Amino acid sequence: MARKIIIDTDPGQDDAVAILLALASPEIDLLGISCVAGNVPLKLTSLNARKVCEVAGRGDVRVFAGCDRPLVHPLVTAEHVHGKTGLDGVELPEPAMALQDGHAVDFIIDTLRAEPAGSVTLCALGPLTNIALALRKAPDIAGRVQEIVLMGGAYFEVGNITPAAEFNIYVDPEAADIVFKSGIPLTVMPLDLTHKALVTAPIVDGFEALGNHAGRVVASWTHFFERFDKAKYGSEGAPLHDPTVIGYLLAPELYSGRHINVEIETRSDLTRGMTVADWWGVTDRPANAMFMGDIDAGAFFALLTERLARL
Ligand code: BDR
Ligand code: CA
Repeated sequence: MARKIIIDTDPGQDDAVAILLALASPEIDLLGISCVAGNVPLKLTSLNARKVCEVAGRGDVRVFAGCDRPLVHPLVTAEHVHGKTGLDGVELPEPAMALQDGHAVDFIIDTLRAEPAGSVTLCALGPLTNIALALRKAPDIAGRVQEIVLMGGAYFEVGNITPAAEFNIYVDPEAADIVFKSGIPLTVMPLDLTHKALVTAPIVDGFEALGNHAGRVVASWTHFFERFDKAKYGSEGAPLHDPTVIGYLLAPELYSGRHINVEIETRSDLTRGMTVADWWGVTDRPANAMFMGDIDAGAFFALLTERLARL
């Protein structure tokens, strides 16, 4: 039976590729998409999510708008990485599909209550505001989530938006703190892993060479998206963060990591949003997350390319 998931997201080119990977994969049953403010404001993330569904010809996917700002701090966005629209790189038509009525947080709560306990996985690709708010509003859902697989945080790579913090956790550390303390099984794709999944020119050429609309669009997005990190890190390619979350559901054997304790720094001005990961086991704090450290990038990109060919 296909695995039921909700994608919580702030598209973002890499979020968009993750959504397409899910829609191209018969092993996955996408129950809906909940949008959150992050890379760009909510108005744009909830517009972009619908544009992406239509790239896959899937105007039937339910897309909900959620929180327009983090729980405590003002919103920080990342247009410097993703461009003004959040999906710069290719012009896409205005979506014909409408946003669903209702708030994304209620969609998450209602879905978890309606589906059998332990049968729904939450895939979090942006700041964790929607998921934290759902847990606050309806604490009973914690015991009903199969697993949360999220992109966020870093240990060896430390930070990308500040010297100490990764973007998704930095934007809403209080939300991340709620999620990491929730007791729900967590699988985390930190920068330590995503910086090993670099999208290079031959990979982008491979998307283009698929010859379908999705392949061309993904090539344009990744081409735009990679310029920032290539310049920053001086590397051959740029990390393609969020699709690693969906890739994990499809081929977990490509990933390795450690089940460790991870705490979120919420108080320090200097290190706010840092994921304090006990990789070396130097505390006796209980493990609360599977913190991934490595990926077979070749196999991952082969899988992604093969799936995009199906769209
Ligand atoms: C994360 O931040 C966003 O810019 C990306 O979409 C990804 O989710 C990487 O730090
Ligand atoms: Ca994202």
